[in-house]
Amino acid sequence: MLLNSVMNLLAPPATMVVMAFAWPSLCFISTCERLYNSFFATEDMEDKVVVITGASSAIGEQIAYEYAKRKANLVLVARRDQRLHSIRSKTKQIGAKQVMIIAADVVKEDECRRFINEAFNYYGHVDHLVNTASLGHEFYFEDVSDTTVFPRLLDINFWGNVYPTYVALPYLQKSNGRIIVNASVESWLPLPRMSLYSAAKAALANFYETLRFELNGDVGITIAIHGWIGSEMSRGKFKLEEGNGGEIEEFAKMIVDGACRGDSYVKFPSWYDVFLLYRAFTPNVLKWTFRLLLSTEATRRNYRIEKEASTIESTPRLMLEESPPPKIQASLPKFSLQEWIESE
Ligand SMILES: NC(=O)c1ccc[n+]([C@@H]2O[C@H](COP(=O)([O-])OP(=O)(O)OC[C@H]3O[C@@H](n4cnc5c(N)ncnc54)[C@H](OP(=O)(O)O)[C@@H]3O)[C@@H](O)[C@H]2O)c1
Repeated sequence: MLLNSVMNLLAPPATMVVMAFAWPSLCFISTCERLYNSFFATEDMEDKVVVITGASSAIGEQIAYEYAKRKANLVLVARRDQRLHSIRSKTKQIGAKQVMIIAADVVKEDECRRFINEAFNYYGHVDHLVNTASLGHEFYFEDVSDTTVFPRLLDINFWGNVYPTYVALPYLQKSNGRIIVNASVESWLPLPRMSLYSAAKAALANFYETLRFELNGDVGITIAIHGWIGSEMSRGKFKLEEGNGGEIEEFAKMIVDGACRGDSYVKFPSWYDVFLLYRAFTPNVLKWTFRLLLSTEATRRNYRIEKEASTIESTPRLMLEESPPPKIQASLPKFSLQEWIESE
């Protein structure tokens, strides 16, 4: 008890002082390591086999183009196979050797087993597994009226990564391969209206950190930690569709560069790490900032009014990021979870 009280007082300032001195040298060492790996130890992806889930849009699609430039063989997985067809043509033009497309739902273990086995049976090896499938949302937890959305969000954002990893692991161990995971800054910097997404991403990050220890280097793990690309997922997507997807392309390149270099993390932007310090040492600063910027009653009211207006104006095709039917829409058209998912 006494020991802990003393440590509570001494450990944080002592650590800060040590870090202040050690941080520049540690940065220098890791920069040298990255430079060395970039020039002398980057994995050549030519003829390697890369399975990408969530390859039908945005970051997954751009990651496919990055591997294509490196002349890899690709297996593109998503539910919308018509989108995968056009992406396949483009990857081939860019330089991919062979490209398989497989329509599958990553939430179902048997479908994951099917696409991983098909990849292995066709190519004879699997070298990288890139997990990109995800489902974002944007609603206040208290507004949810249909709770079937809860497991659905966890299924895609957590189990949709775990199942492909589980099935691919024996093949990745054989090839000394790599798993690339798309986590998010929300895994440790939770934002309002993204409670379930943040929870799933936190679980995902912890799962892969543990797996990293368990695998002990047999299979590499690269965790990509996204900031708010285009400020949020939906805007990132619109930017890409409008042809201004600079940030997504840039981040996809960073992910693939990092994975080929053997990096444990790829962060974009990396300065967000300072929020970790605030979270650990002065959590109130974050709380006040979020209250001020994001979560005031006025913001909530505006959000709901905008939501109602947009629901009335448009024939509703709910986007991935849109809310499930909130209670406040009692007088507005209601959607079932099934309709919401099918609209995707
Ligand atoms: N964009 C950002 O600002 C941002 C920020 C933080 C983290 N991230 C993370 O980065 C990753 C990619 O984000 P994004 O913006 O590219 O997402 P996105 O555009 O919403 O793409 C999600 C992909 O997942 C696929 N998918 C969804 N459910 C699936 C299922 N059950 N089975 C198979 N595929 C499924 C979708 O394809 P189908 O619908 O065709 O199946 C789509 O290709 C995600 O892990 C996301 O959490 C993104």
